[in-house]
Formats: sequence, structure tokens, C-alpha cells
Amino acid sequence: MRETELAPSHIVYPLFVQAGLSGRQPIDAMPGQDRLGLDALAAEAVSLESLGIPAVLLFGLPPAKDDRGSGAWARDGIVQQAVRRIKDARPDLLVIGDVCLCEYTSHGHCGVVRADGSVDNDATLPLLAETAVSLAGAGCDIIAPSDMMDGRVAAIRSALDASGFGETPILSYAAKFASAFYGPFREAAESAPAFGDRRTYQMDPANRRMALDEVVADISEGADMVMVKPALPYLDVLREVRNAVGVPVAAYNVSGEYAMLMAAAGNGWLDERRAIDEVLTSIRRAGADIIITYHAKQWAQAQG
Ligand code: PBG
Repeated sequence: MRETELAPSHIVYPLFVQAGLSGRQPIDAMPGQDRLGLDALAAEAVSLESLGIPAVLLFGLPPAKDDRGSGAWARDGIVQQAVRRIKDARPDLLVIGDVCLCEYTSHGHCGVVRADGSVDNDATLPLLAETAVSLAGAGCDIIAPSDMMDGRVAAIRSALDASGFGETPILSYAAKFASAFYGPFREAAESAPAFGDRRTYQMDPANRRMALDEVVADISEGADMVMVKPALPYLDVLREVRNAVGVPVAAYNVSGEYAMLMAAAGNGWLDERRAIDEVLTSIRRAGADIIITYHAKQWAQAQG
């Protein structure tokens, strides 16, 4: 009789891979989450697969950064190496490659920056396209642009098609809001902007109709799946997107949502297991086909 089903098959687990790290290093603001060295990936892939989690979303911490973010599309870039390791260990684990420059730029913005400090949308598009092709070439099954530059889905689609990756789908971060809840991620990925903020390219939290326009635009540019991010403060947007489009809809239960719950649970103020189950169920109930969540392993382990 239950109306809403939540299964491991709905869940994607984000992984932070750090160049030069051996083993795992805990992320302070995300209790229970670690950055992984390349040597830790094979064992992680095996354990995720044994929990029934079908997919991971990869973020990289490169050995060096520059003003164009060239580590994002380097042949031996950190994520490129990580995909190969995962696929060597567990070829059936689906790997989603996040496309963005903020982890790779010295200034921490998601695109290239002009002399006056503003982000140059159009000059960023070829770099994102090159990153997408590089990630697909390394073995990513799905390309997920999170940069929020206008026109990037079309640029990435045509670059993938022209490079022999016509079958590689795009999961676009279509309705991505300029949110305080990305705070812990920026610590985890060392990607906080050195100046300014992301409000010129991420969405105003007050805008619901605009979110639908962004989703429709991304689908018309070739997105095969769309995402709403963050999840909990935007469940209304998620429901509207689910009602409006036919493609699969993903929701990203982001780092700050995770940190908030884990901090309360760590203090004994919330029952961790019940709270996680309720959060993930609410995101499904609001219409998500896919939930990207740092709670993936805790939730799957609790199903026993
Ligand atoms: C990169 C990116 C961010 C997140 C995913 N991809 C950070 C940002 O936009 O600042 C956030 C994910 C999270 O908070 O868990 N642009």
C-alpha cells in the first residue's frame, strides 16, 4: 500500500578523489565522509557494489590549479585516472563525471574570469566541452555539467557527438540554486571562490518559474536527464519539474543538507537512521527518480 518506494537503485553516491593522497582523509564538515586517494578506489567500488548502489558521481582535487582549470580536461587528470581505476575494479558500477572548472581553477570560479573579475560565459563553453569529451574518453558513462554556464549543454552535446560519444547521456544540473548549503562541499573540494560569489551563474532561490525555464532550455539543448539542486529546500521545484517534463529527474541532497542532519544526529538530537530514511523518502515523494546523496552508504547498510 505504500505510495513511495525507495531502493538502492535510486541512489547515486558522490566521491571526492584527491591527487597525491594515499588511503582516505576525513572531511571535517561532513562527518562520515572522506576524500579518497586513487589507491582507495578499487575497494570503495567493491563495497558500493556489494551494497547495491549502482552509481557514483566523481569530483576531483587536482595536484595543481591554474586560471583556466586545465586539470579538468588533462589526459591524466585526477578524475580521468579515477574512472579508469573504478572501471578496472568494477566495470558495472556506473560512473558519472561532474563537469565544472571550480575545483581546477586557481580563483575557484566555475568558468574563466575576465580582468574585471566577472565570469566569461562564452569563453568557458569550449573548456567545458573539452572536459566532457576527456571524461567520456576516460570511461565516464554519464556526463553531468554543474557549472551553470548558459549554452553548455548544447556545446557539450555537439562536442561529444563529434568525438564518437554520441551515445553518452547528459545529466544536466538544470535548476541549480545559489545556495548556502554547498558550504561543506567547497571545503571538501577546495573550490570556494577566492573573490565574489556564484550568483551571476547560479539561480536565485526565490525563482520557481525560472527553474522550469532552465530545465526546458537544457532539455531542448540535448539534456537526457535534469537535476534540481539542492533537494530539501527545493522540494516544490522538484515536484513541478517532475510534473512538467518526461525525462528522468535527479535531485542532489547536497553537502549542507548532509552536514545539518549529521550534526544533529551526532549531538543525539535526532535519530540518524530514521531522519535519513525520511529525508530520502521525501525527495522520492517529491518526484526524484534519482537521488544523489552522501547518506547512500549509511542508508544502504541500514537496509541489511
Ligand atoms: C561544482 C559543484 C558544487 C556542488 C556540486 N558541483 C559546488 C558549487 O556550486 O559551489 C555542490 C555539491 C554539494 O554541496 O554537495 N560547481
